[in-house]
Amino acid sequence: MSQTKNKGSLPFNLILIGFMGAGKSTVARCLGKKCAMEIIEMDEEIVRRERRSIPEIFQQQGEAYFRNLETGLLKELQKETNKIISCGGGAALRAENVAEMKKNGKVILLTAEPQTILNRVKYDNSRPILKNRKTVADIAELMEKRQEKYLAAADLVISTDNKNIGQICEDILHAL
Ligand code: S3P
Repeated sequence: MSQTKNKGSLPFNLILIGFMGAGKSTVARCLGKKCAMEIIEMDEEIVRRERRSIPEIFQQQGEAYFRNLETGLLKELQKETNKIISCGGGAALRAENVAEMKKNGKVILLTAEPQTILNRVKYDNSRPILKNRKTVADIAELMEKRQEKYLAAADLVISTDNKNIGQICEDILHAL
């Protein structure tokens, strides 16, 4: 799909999933620009509605509360088309969420090696799931636990290791 092919609008959404630090937000911005599509950042939308940060939501209400917000938001987003939806890294782990994504979206899984992920997230403290787990071994272990679900949800798998953002977006547009 090239920008010219998207002169009209897509009758579905492009949904980016993958592990924390896989590049979902960066890729969403790049694709949004290239294809003149609006972006919905699920985490940002949740933070805006809750008027508190993700670490605060986890700390004050617990992870299950956050996960339920994700599910509710995904359900709402079914009314959208022609949007790029950048999901939080845990959104594709619930079967119910994946069912919502599939109703109206092409699901793109971004992958990266644990070392690449560590390099990208090591100075960032906004992810409660990675608190005290910022080692290659911990990231590899968590990734391994999640991998099957990520792959099962994906219509398209794109590796981001050793590629710049332009290349990653080209790979996606080429494969669509
Ligand atoms: C999470 C990923 C985060 C955010 C929350 C939980 C996860 O989003 O939704 O901290 O469980 O993988 P990013 O993938 O954008 O970091």
